[in-house]
Amino acid sequence: MSDKDVVIEAVGLTKSFKDFWGRPKAKAVNDISFEVKKGEVFGLLGPNGSGKSTTIKMLLGLLYPSRGALQVFGKSPRDVKVKQRIGYLPEETYLYKYLSAHETVDFFGALFQLSREDRKKRTQQLIEMVGLKNAGKRAVGEYSKGMARRVGLAQALINDPDLIILDEPTSGLDPIGCREVKNLIKTLAQRGKTVILSSHLLADVQDVVDRVVVLYGGQIRAQGTIDELLLVENKTKIVTPRMSKETLDRVLKILHEEYSPEQLELSHPKLDLETFFLDVVNRARKEDVHTAGAQAGDFADYLKGAVVEKAQAADEENGEFSALKAEKEVSAKLAEIVAKDDQPPQVEHTVDPKENNFKVEEKLSGLMENPPVAEPSSLEKEKEIIKTQEEDLSKVNDKLKNLLGK
Ligand SMILES: Nc1ncnc2c1ncn2[C@@H]1O[C@H](COP(=O)(O)OP(=O)(O)OP(=O)(O)O)[C@@H](O)[C@H]1O
Ligand SMILES: [Mg+2]
Repeated sequence: MSDKDVVIEAVGLTKSFKDFWGRPKAKAVNDISFEVKKGEVFGLLGPNGSGKSTTIKMLLGLLYPSRGALQVFGKSPRDVKVKQRIGYLPEETYLYKYLSAHETVDFFGALFQLSREDRKKRTQQLIEMVGLKNAGKRAVGEYSKGMARRVGLAQALINDPDLIILDEPTSGLDPIGCREVKNLIKTLAQRGKTVILSSHLLADVQDVVDRVVVLYGGQIRAQGTIDELLLVENKTKIVTPRMSKETLDRVLKILHEEYSPEQLELSHPKLDLETFFLDVVNRARKEDVHTAGAQAGDFADYLKGAVVEKAQAADEENGEFSALKAEKEVSAKLAEIVAKDDQPPQVEHTVDPKENNFKVEEKLSGLMENPPVAEPSSLEKEKEIIKTQEEDLSKVNDKLKNLLGK
């Protein structure tokens, strides 16, 4: 593999947060080294506070490493050319509540200086892809958490990035949404995109990633491909249709000639990422490895009960069923979008961000001139909400300008 195929190279990466007087407060990331190659889906795992988001923020050039070397596309992550090739879904979706999903995605497209036509075409396709076709014209302030997450995903892809960094992409999504995101990640990787994702949903991670690192207390505790980490090497598993007793007896007779009964087991070995992850974390705890993050305590006794387990089992059953159904739908949808790629745009309604700011101003002055019949206190509240929204928007703008290095 040539150097140009290495998308991210981190060597001895360290980040310490200092307090007001410059004294070290927390070592969020402590001397980690890893490499991510083109077309790879790379998972960052670890318990709360283990350094995942801090690592991601360094990859985005939003935080300076305290020590170590970091290169993205062979350059500093703070290089504007590098930033233009990255799509980022932050841990929390910050959206301007009065814009619709269409307007939001279009607005981000404008920040990337895409032409109006490109923005229209891409926005329509993205909104459809993330499953918001029917709600795309509604203000995102009315959206549920999962719907807002979907807008965030669409926004992260508007610049057709080569590297997509997703911090907890499935948080807040229902099982179907999770499945859709997983399919989307796989499709992106098949198209040569590199994807980095952090998640606590290990089953989701296991389904899509090629390689993972497991962080604990800011350090890498395990790293490798899913096969390397999870393969049970000294055992063989043969899967057959359900055997009749006679066939089973015959097979066991042959096996007994070679192996002792203790060496054979009929229930096949099964190790999932969840077991592996908990094992890594438990070992780190036993070794008393320092972490500035959270450590789970025991579940409160009074909350334990069969009802909870039953509900979980039912959820799992439903989730699996709906997810399977959804997988087919999503694949069909993705194929449709790919096929549509060259068709002319059909979006009729996009709004210039400037126009929208004007709308807010208009609304504010309208409110001040003609106060609604409502109580003065509720008018005050409304003004405050609008003010907060404007502040939110300006924060998002600042962040994006920072991201784009402008
Ligand atoms: N701006 C900051 N100032 C001080 N400490 C910080 C800051 N950001 C993160 N930390 C600390 O760094 C450590 C790692 O935090 P980080 O957000 O990277 O964890 P994480 O793995 O993303 O956790 P989570 O799963 O909860 O999102 C934590 O101890 C956290 O308190
Ligand atoms: Mg985080």
